[in-house]
Amino acid sequence: MKLFDVYPINDITITKALGSRVWDNNGIEYMDLYGGHAVISIGHTHPHWVKRIEEQLNKIAFYSNSIKIPIQEELAEKLGEVSGKKDFELFLCNSGAEANENALKLASFHTNRKKIVAFKKAFHGRTSLAVAATDNPSIVAPVNETDNIVFLPFNDIETLTNYFNEKGNEVAAIIIEGIQGVGGINVASNDFLLAIRTLCDQYGSIYIADSVQCGYGRSGIFFSHDCAGVEADIYSMAKGMGNGFPIGGIIVSPKFKAKHSMLGTTFGGNHLACAAALAVLEVMQKESLIENSKTVGDYLMNELNLIPQISGVRGRGLMIGFDVPDEYKNLKKDLLFKYKIFTGEAKPNVIRLLPSLALNMNDATTFISTLKIAITAYQP
Ligand SMILES: Cc1ncc(COP(=O)(O)O)c(C=O)c1O
Repeated sequence: MKLFDVYPINDITITKALGSRVWDNNGIEYMDLYGGHAVISIGHTHPHWVKRIEEQLNKIAFYSNSIKIPIQEELAEKLGEVSGKKDFELFLCNSGAEANENALKLASFHTNRKKIVAFKKAFHGRTSLAVAATDNPSIVAPVNETDNIVFLPFNDIETLTNYFNEKGNEVAAIIIEGIQGVGGINVASNDFLLAIRTLCDQYGSIYIADSVQCGYGRSGIFFSHDCAGVEADIYSMAKGMGNGFPIGGIIVSPKFKAKHSMLGTTFGGNHLACAAALAVLEVMQKESLIENSKTVGDYLMNELNLIPQISGVRGRGLMIGFDVPDEYKNLKKDLLFKYKIFTGEAKPNVIRLLPSLALNMNDATTFISTLKIAITAYQP
């Protein structure tokens, strides 16, 4: 049997990883500023994470949600402590799409409404409602198409307000990434997030903060949306939550009333995934990784802003994007194949940096000097 060929693949086989470094099957070392697509939060194969998973594996890996699973409560407690959302409640699932799917469903149950407001260039996942709320028709199958979703311009308060004045009473939820990832690192303005909060309060709609990519400390605070000084009703999360062990979840404000069977999953919240997620939060606290994300991120942004050949440097913490002019469009490939540095990309010519939150200053400095060398190599 062959693999169903849905991924454009780089001809590299990674066989070993540690911290912000990975090695291929020929022993060649790479710096990882992509974090396997913003997933590696505390660093590859962190010893505490490995130990926690190993210890749990030797006890019990999985049992269904029909029994008590105290490690889920331990995780909820820790997440409340690290995120500051102590009065929220946690529902665990397995991925970002699933987290958003559940968030949207919960908003609809709660409001008894159907309309969802999403934004241009949004990416919320590939399951049916999450993909319908994703602004990319090429990944929406005919069966996923629905009139219940409307896409409005990002950061445009006037258009959003006008829409609510007309249809606000039908809107179940607004879903927004605090920093759009796949869309090319576009930061939601504080004023826009404030307007979302105000309109949701005014019309009884639910504010869903998709924190799958921008959350979990990546932006230099736990949830990037919170820089606006207001709280969302639901935060969805995944990627960094397990440092590569698949786990996702939503946390919901006290306004939601749980009812048995309204949400559910077989694998979500299994013992092993919870052990991985607990290890992540423990390391984040112990090694002050959220603070590190801010410090190293600020340094990178400052340095990138000084490179004249690139433009539009944007982001927060260790979620950074910049535009590369057309004549440098092979820069990302060169960084990978010539200079052995993994970075991310977005269409058309955006380079995305999504490294582990434990990226150190040395690596950040090396990246900047290598980037300058790579750019200079293009010049006549
Ligand atoms: C903001 C955002 N939401 C949701 C998802 C979907 O997550 P997953 O691939 O884990 O389903 C992604 C994935 O890139 C994402 O960036």
